[in-house]
Amino acid sequence: MELFFLFTLFSFSLASILNQGAVTYDCPYCQPEQIHIAFGEKTNDIKITWSTFNDTQESTVEYGEGIMEKEATGSATLFTDGGKEKRSQWIHTVLLKDLKFNTRYVYHVGSVYGWSELFSFKTPPEGEDWLLRAAIYGDMGNKNAHSLSYLQDEAERDHFDVILHVGDFAYDMDTEDARVGDEFMRQIQPLAATVPYMTCPGNHEEKYNFSNYVNRFSMPGPDSNLYYSFDLGPVHFVSVSTEVYYFTEYGLKLIVNQYDWLKEDLAEANTPENRSKRPWIILFGHRPMYCSNSNDIDCSVELTRVGIAGMFGLEPLLIEFGVDVVIWAHEHSYERSWPLYDNVVYNGTEGPYINPGAPVHIVTGSAGCQESTDPFNYPAAAWSAFRSTDYGYTRFKAYNQTHIYFEQVSVDRKGKVIDSLWIEKHKHEAYNL
Ligand SMILES: *[C@@H]1O[C@H](CO)[C@@H](O)[C@H](O)[C@H]1NC(C)=O
Ligand SMILES: *[C@@H]1O[C@H](CO)[C@@H](O)[C@H](O)[C@H]1NC(C)=O
Ligand SMILES: *[C@@H]1O[C@H](CO)[C@@H](O)[C@H](O)[C@H]1NC(C)=O
Ligand SMILES: *[C@@H]1O[C@H](CO)[C@@H](O)[C@H](O)[C@H]1NC(C)=O
Ligand SMILES: *[C@@H]1O[C@H](CO)[C@@H](O)[C@H](O)[C@H]1NC(C)=O
Ligand SMILES: [Fe+2]
Repeated sequence: MELFFLFTLFSFSLASILNQGAVTYDCPYCQPEQIHIAFGEKTNDIKITWSTFNDTQESTVEYGEGIMEKEATGSATLFTDGGKEKRSQWIHTVLLKDLKFNTRYVYHVGSVYGWSELFSFKTPPEGEDWLLRAAIYGDMGNKNAHSLSYLQDEAERDHFDVILHVGDFAYDMDTEDARVGDEFMRQIQPLAATVPYMTCPGNHEEKYNFSNYVNRFSMPGPDSNLYYSFDLGPVHFVSVSTEVYYFTEYGLKLIVNQYDWLKEDLAEANTPENRSKRPWIILFGHRPMYCSNSNDIDCSVELTRVGIAGMFGLEPLLIEFGVDVVIWAHEHSYERSWPLYDNVVYNGTEGPYINPGAPVHIVTGSAGCQESTDPFNYPAAAWSAFRSTDYGYTRFKAYNQTHIYFEQVSVDRKGKVIDSLWIEKHKHEAYNL
């Protein structure tokens, strides 16, 4: 009797040891890291992206409302950085489709070889009629990221429905054989795993044909994250690559592809039917059409604004399709324009921003990086309404069909709002210039 019992016990543990041996393969670097989320083709589709340094053979997200009772799987691709060491990592993406609107989900990501800690995100409400809240900034590095703690704190307090990072990440993602990119993606994780982190490429992403940018982020759209749009509440957001105009060695066809896509995208957004439902169009890209900084020549180079040899200029499209606001970064400062087209100010008659006669430009590139802030030219141009070299970021609120609001947070002044702006508009259509 006793012998039999011992035997059973022995075979049991032998089985479990053997069994474990069969499941576990040597996977020392299978812990998920650099977790971040983005909107998919619809805003109740959330795409989750993360990295492991070894092949986990599966990419799984366990998620649900309050408890993780659901599971979704995706895939991983091996990304090899272009630097000397050719460091590589597996980048996993999983799409959570058709989530409930206005619902908080908890989730973790990984595989049987390692799960991340628990995160949560909230899907946005359905439809157009709700108060949309965003954080917007560019040029945030892994060193000197002054705004990051403020942004994380606000994100975890549910202050934002989306984050727009308007180019220039990490300084640079490819530096030290992409270790700086890894470090940066870990640093923004608390923020970017909590709120959809929507991006556009900047000049600091250029190395190896933007490969760190293209591989690490998972934006919706047709051409490797370079340009795309999404509808959120009362706003149609459009993300463009200004860099296709500068790094033409990667293909002139990218300028043409983007231009054709943009024309079509704006035309669809600007149909009377769509515009009456979702009136605001906000476009963002990295290098400004207008800025007044003195540190380099970038404020006088006008490739994106007027195009190349008079072709593919983007500013005429802003007029033709009645784009309301355009947001830039690149200059490490904040600057707001009066309503502006071709260097001429078109204030509204009841107030500059009440039914303005042209798009309003905002440059917000002072989130903080190792290159410090950029000084201004004096005196300011006539189109420049407010500017500051404080470190900080922009908060945006779309209230409804007629009112949107921007404010600039100064981190140097411990979170004080140093500029604010209401835009009130009762008609959204092509500007009549
Ligand atoms: C696992 O990851 C480590 C660290 O990046 C790497 O050195 C090693 O080559 C990887 N092993 C496999 C089998 O991919
Ligand atoms: C650079 O990458 C883009 C897509 O991101 C691709 O369309 C283009 O052909 C690439 N250019 C070169 C020279 O490899
Ligand atoms: C309205 O916008 C949607 C995208 O949100 C687009 O698919 C549709 O074609 C647009 N409608 C028109 C009439 O262009
Ligand atoms: C636009 O409005 C602002 C604020 O009232 C004013 O300072 C500026 O001079 C105006 N510009 C023009 C061209 O009317
Ligand atoms: C839109 O929002 C603004 C700011 O909160 C408010 O003053 C205005 O009454 C709202 N309009 C409508 C139609 O709700
Ligand atoms: Fe830049």
